Amino acid sequence: MITFNQKTNVFQLDTPTTSYIMGIADGKYLGHIYYGKKLELELDANAESFDPTYLLRTEEHPFVPSQLIREKLSFLDSFPMEYPSGGTGDFRESCINVRTAGGQDGLELIYKSHRIYRGKDPLHGLPATWGGPCDTLELTLCDMPTGLEAVLSYSVFEGNDAVIRSVKVCNNGPEAVYIDKILSACLEMDNEEFQLLSLHGAWARERHMHIQPLAAGSHVVESLRGISSHVDHPFLAALSKDCTQTGGEAYAMHFVYSGNFIAKAQRTQYDTLRMVLGIHPEHFCWKLEPGETFQAPEAVLVYSDAGLGKMSRTFHDLYRSHLIRSKYKDKERPVLINNWEATYFQFDTKKLIHLAEESAKAGIEMLVMDDGWFGNRYDEFRSLGDWTVNEEKLPGGLPYLVEQINRLGMKFGIWFEPEMISPDSDLYRAHPDWALQLKGRTPSLARGQLVLDLSRPEVADYIYGCLSRILRAANIEYVKWDMNRGLSDIGNSCLPPDRQGEILHRYMLAVYQLQERLVTEFPDLLLENCSSGGGRFDPGMLYYSPQIWCSDDTDAIERLQIQEGTQLLYPLSTIGAHVSDCPNHTVGRTTPFQTRGIVALAGTFGYELDITKISEEERAQIPAQIAAYKKYSPLIREGDYYRIASYRENHAYDCYEIVAKDKSYAAVFFVQVHHTPSMRSRRLKLQGLDKKAVYEVDGRSYTGEALMYAGLLRKRVFGDFEAEVIEIRQVDKAQEK
Ligand code: DGJ
Repeated sequence: MITFNQKTNVFQLDTPTTSYIMGIADGKYLGHIYYGKKLELELDANAESFDPTYLLRTEEHPFVPSQLIREKLSFLDSFPMEYPSGGTGDFRESCINVRTAGGQDGLELIYKSHRIYRGKDPLHGLPATWGGPCDTLELTLCDMPTGLEAVLSYSVFEGNDAVIRSVKVCNNGPEAVYIDKILSACLEMDNEEFQLLSLHGAWARERHMHIQPLAAGSHVVESLRGISSHVDHPFLAALSKDCTQTGGEAYAMHFVYSGNFIAKAQRTQYDTLRMVLGIHPEHFCWKLEPGETFQAPEAVLVYSDAGLGKMSRTFHDLYRSHLIRSKYKDKERPVLINNWEATYFQFDTKKLIHLAEESAKAGIEMLVMDDGWFGNRYDEFRSLGDWTVNEEKLPGGLPYLVEQINRLGMKFGIWFEPEMISPDSDLYRAHPDWALQLKGRTPSLARGQLVLDLSRPEVADYIYGCLSRILRAANIEYVKWDMNRGLSDIGNSCLPPDRQGEILHRYMLAVYQLQERLVTEFPDLLLENCSSGGGRFDPGMLYYSPQIWCSDDTDAIERLQIQEGTQLLYPLSTIGAHVSDCPNHTVGRTTPFQTRGIVALAGTFGYELDITKISEEERAQIPAQIAAYKKYSPLIREGDYYRIASYRENHAYDCYEIVAKDKSYAAVFFVQVHHTPSMRSRRLKLQGLDKKAVYEVDGRSYTGEALMYAGLLRKRVFGDFEAEVIEIRQVDKAQEK
């Protein structure tokens, strides 16, 4: 619910357990008053209500400019701005900087009007949360000298605790302006000895959780790689000192965007915290002609008063219900086998059919043909951009191969890397200027490839033509959209000098548009995004694909931390997870086949190995693993996620639990990483159950509260890398006393 109190000039957004409150000070300045546990104020126009504007501190020195104009600068530099602008006196981190045609930099955004409406408008060209029921508040602020208007948008979905923000600016002035910086969200709070939580990593080590004290100065999480990246993640949270999985406070921000971003936490001179999130201002500058509008992407804000667990569940529910659109989001995904780790580039029709035959026998449902099927692609140094079938490898082309796979009762999926071009390709020989490049410089290669300049519509159209032609030619039911390098040499010869700063964002918009075209023309297609593993695992991509390849590191133990960090924000049903061969190709570790299966259950399940070469003993386990995936898949898709223990913290074992929404059923996924010889058993304190209900575990009965407060004893003594799934089933609902 969203309300505006005319007497106090206060806006209040309420979600089931939180409130977000803003107010107008001095008739001009939009200030942030409160974000946190729900405040049951009666803030409607008629009721006598509590006035929270004292929290804007306008009665403290420095007073508002109408009372103390000589200290206007001090006011601007200490007021809790809802959407701070740069250049006019607020020296803290700004959200927006605009340069006039005269080269001057400075904005003062003043409240002009607002609108509260039922529903939520789409964000033109950008991924965004959707559906309903929901309410939206639009606040229009304006800068008189430039005629620039900033429209701040806030939406809340019924039954969900997230607050969704975005910003668009309209140039109502007579001259073009240059947007040098436009972030999507800002949060102002008094510092309460916060800690900062962010996700960091590298290729094959994505999204590890990091928690550190909020030190003086600024802490930055960012990507300048043109993708959300393996390294930092477009997410930042301030945590109270006592924050755990089950208690304490978390203020989180997550960005619905897949390109460069910045998230910054700034501890100010007054010991307040300003947190901002948006498109990275470096390499960004957007020229806005009179009458034009620029839409910045959406940011999702979540406050939790019950620790990280509640924060995660709020994100999961929001993304499941209001971000992912694919019809597969509520469906069991086909169990796939991907030939990448099985064959790399060395495969042909015969090999693929052999793989498929053995896979079909084991109950696997889809063959995904990965990199290497097109052009002259015998290794990673050539042919990206030449999207025609290599008939030397695949005689009879795709129609023949797909028919053979379908005959085995299996679906067929294919890999593309549409955003790239190899210098050794017919496409590059014909259009060398189609690669991103800076005048007079040889662009940097990465993995032997360059990046296609998708900001040029003719390039994007060409690529769409290639993709759609292939997809129309055969019964292809799945696409893995890969992207294997960061963006460098951001320049082209088409846009004028004062628009070169638009290329990165135009590129991102073009990727979104390509995926939109794809899922619109092929509505039955299951799309999986990927970027050298999980380099572009972000909410933006989820809008187009219901699942994303999580990491190229398929080692069951390495995956524990990668998946824990990913699960922090993303529903498990979006996380691509496969059983691969051992010794693991990335880390060389050998783990039991059963453990690899259990770890891969935490996502969209599949195999990535040469099934014709693994041992009979391992092959024999596959049908049972698939049965387990099918059994737990509805629970994993729809249930609530609870993290019970983290290998990151305890260095010994990993444990999470999924509980059905009605609390009647749960499954606990346990992996013993290091066997501790002196331990006879371990107490697992479960969460999320009905405390009065009776549950059965391995034929024994427990009350929900016994399982949650006292814990379940796991008596078996495990060896290293052993794992199991424990089922918790409600047998009898005890009467409430
Ligand atoms: C990177 C992906 O993450 C892998 O799964 C595989 O598709 C390779 N690219 C192929 O080049």
